[in-house]
Amino acid sequence: MNHQTIIVLDYGSQYSQLICRRVRETQVYAELISWDRAEEALARLQPVGIILSGGPNSVYEANAPTLPAAVVESGLPILGICYGLQLLAHTLGGRVSPGSEREYGPAVVEVDQQSVQTNPLFAGLPASLQVWMSHGDRVEALPLGFQPIAHSGNSPLAAIADEARHIYGIQFHPEVVHTPQGRALLENFVKRICGCVGDWTPGHFIQETVARIRAQVGPAGHVICGLSGGVDSAVAAALVHRAIGDRLACVFVDHGLLRQREAEQVIQTFQEHQGMHLIAVDAKEDFLSDLAGVTDPEQKRKLIGNRFIRIFEAEAARLAITWGVDSPAFLAQGTLYPDVIESAGSDETRNARTIKTHHNVGGLPKDMTFQLIEPLRMLFKDEVRTVGEALGLPETLVWRHPFPGPGLAIRVLGEVTWERLETLRHADAIFLEELRNANLYRQTSQVFCVLLPVRSVGVMGDGRTYANPIALRAVTTDDFMTADWARLPYDLLARVSNRIVNEVDGVNRVVYDISSKPPATIEWE
Ligand code: XMP
Repeated sequence: MNHQTIIVLDYGSQYSQLICRRVRETQVYAELISWDRAEEALARLQPVGIILSGGPNSVYEANAPTLPAAVVESGLPILGICYGLQLLAHTLGGRVSPGSEREYGPAVVEVDQQSVQTNPLFAGLPASLQVWMSHGDRVEALPLGFQPIAHSGNSPLAAIADEARHIYGIQFHPEVVHTPQGRALLENFVKRICGCVGDWTPGHFIQETVARIRAQVGPAGHVICGLSGGVDSAVAAALVHRAIGDRLACVFVDHGLLRQREAEQVIQTFQEHQGMHLIAVDAKEDFLSDLAGVTDPEQKRKLIGNRFIRIFEAEAARLAITWGVDSPAFLAQGTLYPDVIESAGSDETRNARTIKTHHNVGGLPKDMTFQLIEPLRMLFKDEVRTVGEALGLPETLVWRHPFPGPGLAIRVLGEVTWERLETLRHADAIFLEELRNANLYRQTSQVFCVLLPVRSVGVMGDGRTYANPIALRAVTTDDFMTADWARLPYDLLARVSNRIVNEVDGVNRVVYDISSKPPATIEWE
């Protein structure tokens, strides 16, 4: 890698990933590293600056995470955030003590007169900063060489600096949206203090990644990639294609559980526009016969996952024969950075507490021996989209909302039949069309219809109807772990409801799901 790197040492804050994201938004590459792996990461990544995240501990707790000696010894600029600040103060000879009261929520930080004008951390920022605080302990006495540079009502030492050694600490969280100037402050740190030039651009990433894939696959290797129609596998495939051309074959399994015209779109985009070697398998009947009579959501997932693997294996075996090899040696996957961070025991960080419960359909066949190519494993979703745009993938694909691997099977509640899938597809297409017309597609995170397995009475013309309701689901979220229901305008909901009951056979009622996650989930099954 020939770009500058900032390492973010993870002390267990729920915001650690966000620090990385904010830094990357300034076109500077940042990587999250478990605090106890600092030394190894310093040697491997040769960073130009270090950020210490916040964390749930108190520096005085037994077994509280510490500041590895290599961090200060590196001589690199350091920015400690919250626990990171306290750790710096504690380790370098200052004093930290429990605050008289826990400070949680919005606060105003006043930058000291002198620092507004001269301190690079606050360059271009107003003297009064709206910030987000979340801490119990606070710094009481500064280590030698440090000066206070900002204060708040409850934190006389809200920001401190040892400018000679380029070590800074702030009590508040610059990474959250509740600190509106936070990104500018982080940008000041990485650019003015660490000297980053902002070389983490999509063009640069594509160039580096293509070179790396070529080196990994070698001059004669072959790669297979499963396309789902979503943005991650699409961008991963496009990168591999750029690197090795026709030695990549993509397999697209049409399980019949996709949205309206989605299968055609995938085939058109990749085969015709991108000129890729695409094998489209029409397996609708296999999946539907597996699902016949099945109503349990987990059972549906299992059946779909198993069938998918069987088809994928058969295609891989066929490809191997075409290529004249024992088996395709490489498998490309669209794994993203949050998955890498969240999968337990990953190399990048061992502090993440959440374990992903969902597995994509298209998960690895267990007994196949592929080497993995994961060109997106260091990217966040928004970065994948920018790379997709830079690769020339169509806008509708790049900005597509996430779609679950088991597809509409978990949105047709109860038994899945072709007729019920068609009903759902039709309603869903209307909802998405109206959402796009209202210019709200990009402002929402996931929007879809669910076909409910109950019937209710209605009246149409002169007749009584007894048909199924459709539930509309629209959510906004940053990470899909929590979500809020989208406050869609009433007139949009009215138009969608009107069109669905008029245009979709078998539906006589439309309801809007106003549940947040938790306690509900985004999907209904
Ligand atoms: P929930 O419903 O758990 O969904 O709030 C969170 C996100 O995960 C997607 N999802 C799945 N994705 N296979 C997938 O690949 C699945 O079985 C699955 N179930 C839910 C869901 O669409 C949302 O984006």
